[in-house]
Amino acid sequence: MAEIQSNEVLVVKSETSKINAVDFSNLTFGRVFTDHMFVCDFEDGKWQSPKIMPYQALTIEPSARVFHYGQAVFEGMKAYKDDDGNIFLFRPDENYRRINKSAVRLAIPEFPESYFFDGMKTLLKLDSDWIKPGVGNSLYIRPFIIATEPAISASPAATYRFMIICSPAKAYYNEPVRVLFAEKYSRSADGGVGFAKAAGNYAAQFYPTNLAQEKGYQQIIWTDASTHDYLEEAGTMNIFFRIGDKLITAPNNDRILDGVTRKSVIQLAEDLGIDCEVRRVSVKEIKEAAKNGSLKEIFGTGTAAVVSPVSAFEHTGDVFELPEVENSYASLFKKTLMNIQHNLSEDKHGWRYGVR
Ligand code: COI
Repeated sequence: MAEIQSNEVLVVKSETSKINAVDFSNLTFGRVFTDHMFVCDFEDGKWQSPKIMPYQALTIEPSARVFHYGQAVFEGMKAYKDDDGNIFLFRPDENYRRINKSAVRLAIPEFPESYFFDGMKTLLKLDSDWIKPGVGNSLYIRPFIIATEPAISASPAATYRFMIICSPAKAYYNEPVRVLFAEKYSRSADGGVGFAKAAGNYAAQFYPTNLAQEKGYQQIIWTDASTHDYLEEAGTMNIFFRIGDKLITAPNNDRILDGVTRKSVIQLAEDLGIDCEVRRVSVKEIKEAAKNGSLKEIFGTGTAAVVSPVSAFEHTGDVFELPEVENSYASLFKKTLMNIQHNLSEDKHGWRYGVR
């Protein structure tokens, strides 16, 4: 295997590529991975030996703390290619900031900025054939950190592994989603880890989401843990409500993920002259608006989901179907965002980050 040194990152190239076996027109989210992965270990009190190697299985002791205590955090990002073959990331500084915010909350050592960006850029250039041009195509990037120390006392690990794996992706939701407003279960609580991209936040949603799916709903919109009266986020997405021509979304707090797409949509709303209120949204208000016809749209935002419309919701047995609206805000924001991401429109906020 050829070994080359790129900046500080050692590169071990794969001798073969799996790319010809992939049907890029028919991708299921997160099932196919590119030829390489980035790996960096925390040992002897520091992050060291960043390297890129062929995508492969890991050898980790069964006693590694991640398996027992879920000491793990991750990020979700995407790379895009324009028709001239240029590669772009979208606001990657936000993901870098957030993975370290999540890491601090889970007692994981922060990851150095130069390793994060050098590792990601080198990996994307090496696997650039996996990034297909065209709006709707992207390469989903999954940076994550796991506690690798083989020890099962309940305390933070002394060793960790930071990795980046990549998967070609289209839309996460192909159809508008039907959602259930949470009445019993909670995703997060005050003082907890809801704001962090902690692996366990997702696992904790699987059981109640399975119950929702049995009733025909793909997702749950989580409500505040103490009263279940206020709508917070959907687990895979932040949530926006359109009443009349006004947009409303819940404010960030320690229970809600500080979504990059969410904050971009809030900014785009301002740019487009759409009134957007960032404030608590009650279940009562949304049900009343649905009853009197002023609730025009609900949509979710996220890196994987981009902007995904909600077609119906249920709460305490009351089901509300949302009729399709012409010129929806969801499609306007999706198009505006994707045009920026794919280098098809002006980037007045400097959100595009060229991978060179
Ligand atoms: C993302 O949007 O990047 C996420 O992490 C959500 C995940 C459920 C795919």
